[in-house]
Amino acid sequence: MDQIAGIRLDPSGTAAFLAEADLDALAGPVAAVAAELTAGTGPGSGFLGWRDLPEQVEEADFAAIEAEAARIRDLADCCVVVGIGGSYLGARAVLEALGGPAPGAPEILFAGTGLCPATLGRVLDRVAGREPALCVISKSGTTLEPAVAFRLLRAHLEQRYGAGGAARRITAITDARRGALKTMADEEGYPAFVVPDDVGGRFSVLTPVGLVPLAVAGLDIRALVAGARAMRSACLNDDLRANPAHFYAAQRHALYAKGFTIEVLSSFHGGLGQLAEWWKQLFGESEGKQGKGIFPATAVMTTDLHSLGQYLQDGRRCLQETFLTVRRTRGELVVPGQGEGGRDLDGLGYLAGMPLDEINQRAFEGTRRAHVAGGVPCTAFELEEVTPFTIGALLYLFEQAVAVSGRLLGVNPFDQPGVEAYKQEMFRLLGKPGA
Ligand code: PA5
Repeated sequence: MDQIAGIRLDPSGTAAFLAEADLDALAGPVAAVAAELTAGTGPGSGFLGWRDLPEQVEEADFAAIEAEAARIRDLADCCVVVGIGGSYLGARAVLEALGGPAPGAPEILFAGTGLCPATLGRVLDRVAGREPALCVISKSGTTLEPAVAFRLLRAHLEQRYGAGGAARRITAITDARRGALKTMADEEGYPAFVVPDDVGGRFSVLTPVGLVPLAVAGLDIRALVAGARAMRSACLNDDLRANPAHFYAAQRHALYAKGFTIEVLSSFHGGLGQLAEWWKQLFGESEGKQGKGIFPATAVMTTDLHSLGQYLQDGRRCLQETFLTVRRTRGELVVPGQGEGGRDLDGLGYLAGMPLDEINQRAFEGTRRAHVAGGVPCTAFELEEVTPFTIGALLYLFEQAVAVSGRLLGVNPFDQPGVEAYKQEMFRLLGKPGA
């Protein structure tokens, strides 16, 4: 497939497993699902706001977010993003992909991503003695993990700066009307941004949920949204073979039907590891319903070839693999020669002068060949470079793909009823009133 918005889908590693007819048979169902999404007539139609976000984010939205980010940068040397699931994974994915905050921007820390006291304790230790800000994100405003972390971090700020001083260091991102966080923001006077009603957590990276922390980190949120916009146009293409999101959705669905029920997203760029975590939530929470769904797993290569590699090559044959590769990263990194008269003691003379990008690319190609030969159908997304633009495009591609893929399975991709079960049990054990 042609490169679109800096991303090229290469399905060659699935050819041995799927006939053209398998994909042709899905062209009609994919078109029907896409039409249903456009018309907003399917299940979860109240949560389709993510589809038009790239077109809808306006200059005034960017300006408000950038102004708040500049204010935070002026008063803080670190910013703790408090949130869980869709309320932090997108920002973290983009932040790590782009190599962290821009020079001079605050360090971004994450809290409320679980209930482990040791992890939260480490964040509290890290902010002690520094000038922290908090960006607390919860659409419902009632999720236990971020609420507990926020209570502890807020107490820390209030002790150091007093109630008024703490309030100036807190930005809330939550529902426009409901929830405890909304009430607190109103009463304490925290600057607040809204998570739109019609955008679910895991689809919210292009709302203030993702954009505020990324702007605090000094990253180019306009380019991120522009990339998503470019991919959105491609995702409107009716031709299955020219629409990367729809083709990817069709292909993984056809493979699922043939028994490839686990998908491993394997990244050959270390910085995309957190993006894979975002993908894992997006696909797992959207598809795993009613006894159905492809189980999403992740790997970072070549690291995981030395841990999961054996299983991928030779374990139970229910795996499909999707690679993320990047064509150009740090071009200046080249394997040095041994110098004048040097001996080839490490045996790497055959690589002397070769850019690391090229070695990594060969490692990817070798892995794909081996895995295909071992019975794993492999798709690849090749990014020309990792930039805010290409990452924005990739995020949108996966969002559109999971919406189509979920509907092909016959589930509602926009709800998550299953996550309530553990909460009920936990709240009962914790003695929450009414649980
Ligand atoms: O995708 C989702 O909807 C979830 O992962 C939520 O983002 C997560 O549970 C956090 O919810 P909230 O933002 O309401 O605290």
